[in-house]
Amino acid sequence: MSSLQVLCSGLPLRPLPENRGRRAGVPHAPVRTPGLSPAEEQLALRNALRYFPPDVQELLAPEFAQELRLYGHIYMYRFCPDIKMRAYPIEQYPCRTRAAAAIMHMIMNNLDPAVAQFPQELVTYGGNGQVFSNWAQFWLTMSYLSQMTEEQTLVMYSGHPLGLFPSSPGAPRLVITNGMVIPNYSSRTEYEKLFAMGVTMYGQMTAGSYCYIGPQGIVHGTVLTVLNAGRWYLGVKDLAGKVFVTSGLGGMSGAQAKAAVIVGCIGVIAEVDKAALMKRHQQGWLMEVTDSLDHCIERLREARKRKEVLSLGYHGNVVDLWERLVHELDTTGELLVDLGSDQTSCHNPFNGGYYPVQLGFAEAQSLMASDPAAFKSLVQESLRRQVSAINRLAKENFFFWDYGNAFLLEAQRAGADVEKKGANKTEFRYPSYVQHIMGDIFSQGFGPFRWVCTSGDPQDLAVTDQLATSVLEEAIADGVNPAVKLQYVDNIRWIREAARHRLVVGSQARILYSDQKGRVAIAVAFNQAIARGKIKAPVVLSRDHHDVSGTDSPFRETSNIYDGSAFCADMAVQNFVGDAFRGATWVALHNGGGVGWGEVINGGFGLVLDGTQEAEQKARMMLSWDVSNGVARRCWSGNQKAYEIICQTMQDNKGLVVTLPQEVADERMLQQALQL
Ligand SMILES: NC(=O)c1ccc[n+]([C@@H]2O[C@H](COP(=O)([O-])OP(=O)(O)OC[C@H]3O[C@@H](n4cnc5c(N)ncnc54)[C@H](O)[C@@H]3O)[C@@H](O)[C@H]2O)c1
Repeated sequence: MSSLQVLCSGLPLRPLPENRGRRAGVPHAPVRTPGLSPAEEQLALRNALRYFPPDVQELLAPEFAQELRLYGHIYMYRFCPDIKMRAYPIEQYPCRTRAAAAIMHMIMNNLDPAVAQFPQELVTYGGNGQVFSNWAQFWLTMSYLSQMTEEQTLVMYSGHPLGLFPSSPGAPRLVITNGMVIPNYSSRTEYEKLFAMGVTMYGQMTAGSYCYIGPQGIVHGTVLTVLNAGRWYLGVKDLAGKVFVTSGLGGMSGAQAKAAVIVGCIGVIAEVDKAALMKRHQQGWLMEVTDSLDHCIERLREARKRKEVLSLGYHGNVVDLWERLVHELDTTGELLVDLGSDQTSCHNPFNGGYYPVQLGFAEAQSLMASDPAAFKSLVQESLRRQVSAINRLAKENFFFWDYGNAFLLEAQRAGADVEKKGANKTEFRYPSYVQHIMGDIFSQGFGPFRWVCTSGDPQDLAVTDQLATSVLEEAIADGVNPAVKLQYVDNIRWIREAARHRLVVGSQARILYSDQKGRVAIAVAFNQAIARGKIKAPVVLSRDHHDVSGTDSPFRETSNIYDGSAFCADMAVQNFVGDAFRGATWVALHNGGGVGWGEVINGGFGLVLDGTQEAEQKARMMLSWDVSNGVARRCWSGNQKAYEIICQTMQDNKGLVVTLPQEVADERMLQQALQL
């Protein structure tokens, strides 16, 4: 077993580690089908070998070539480290600056097999969310980080560590870009090739920016989403006896099972991959499993009658489940489902993200690699069938929403009937959870703020939980508007539930939704507690990219932008740059996080709180920008809530001046002007 010292001392070359290939008993990424020409294959191999000195290239070349042929990508399995991969306490990392040690803590968490979806292929979640493109990049990055000083910045180009460059203590220690390609070449076909050649990488949101905190993040989002869906659509506060049907028990989607139990409803979740299903069952998040549709329906009916709290995993295709629910409705008149969604990986539908109902799991994997065109046509037919079944149920008292996985977008592209008559092109027949269910939270500055205690000590996490709760309680006591109060109250309840349900997988992390004021107050409270020794080691602040300012995504985060700028990405880029010079310890800019390559631009950050005065200043400055940017943009696009928030923030924050939109209410004037 290697030590952290060895792990941080550069690529292991003398001797080379033994090539143990792909490990059995670990889930592996689907075979990629890049369709490289012979010249491009040569380039891919040349690119992989340039990490190694000439004397070992001859030995590695055939091995890498074989990986390319067998798996469609060169992962360099030989260099998959022989260490228990996990987030070690910060003081154990060899380093010259603690910021670098905190980053290493976060990287190793993203690759921890308890956390990562396909750990040997360096995929954290979402089927293809890479931390790095290959293992050589991992070793080099760890070595650079352990050497780095406060006068240097590490530059990452889509997984490739370009080097340590001179900078200054106030600058970020790490700048990451993932998947930045020339816009006209940002197609999925080009991506497959560029990834196979090792020159670009899909970093999802928090995979390639090292800020993933396990499925807890999405349990939180799902709890609040299902609670709010119950409030808006069913008019109930208590979800006992209500049935929520969905699909996916993978990296993020697996959280749906736990969320159903936390909100007290009956969650039925279809999953085609037995390994994913059993992982959630063993973890205790899925209470029961079955591969019989008959049993599934019988159990659901019984639980509904008894108002049992249940999470039931159906091992099979979700289309079969939806069609069976339609059959029950048509034959018995009984509507067995109240709420529904989908969390297959539709951001990547033709490469293993969505399994078509016409094929078994293994059969689908093989066709995906042998005949991608035939596979694509089956996926599209399956999506059309899924939507027809959902449409039939939605004629009754059943409510479906898009869960930010590009399901409705891909269904529309497949020719399914998801059109909303008379709507603009970012809207569909069913709502998107961000805008309609969560109640336009981003316009109020609310979003998924998170932190990681780098000591790795659960006691530190407990202290931060207490501090965050007190900050929100004090804010309520000081007086906030009813919408903000509802958010704070839901999040206080969430922190208590999260601790009780032991949601930590991997690093000692917590997530909650907060607005700008709350985020800054929580950060300051943590920093002071570190200074006083109440928290033993630095805390990393971060957030999902899926937030107020981080993401320009016209079908999701920015689906409520109505001034025509929903397809522009200035906000995410400004966010990345602005965070960088206001104190972030690292920043990341990505193509495609959440809904897929070419569909979105998103940015994230990490900020290390170490108890110093500088850390507090950076937190105040950076977190304020990180929220205000998106609120101001929404205000400019005509959102009334955002307008009110930004006016309030201007009063609170000296120095904030924004251009406010003027009322253009005279329709007749516009029409007359246009007729000229
Ligand atoms: N809602 C959010 O806030 C949010 C956040 C992050 C990601 N996402 C998106 O949600 C999607 C899921 O993310 P993930 O990390 O869970 O991905 P994942 O690939 O780990 O899990 C998806 C699961 O769906 C299963 N599946 C695919 N087709 C199926 C079918 N027809 N029937 C039943 N099961 C099927 C797969 O086997 C897989 O286990 C992604 O598109 C991701 O980008 C949403």
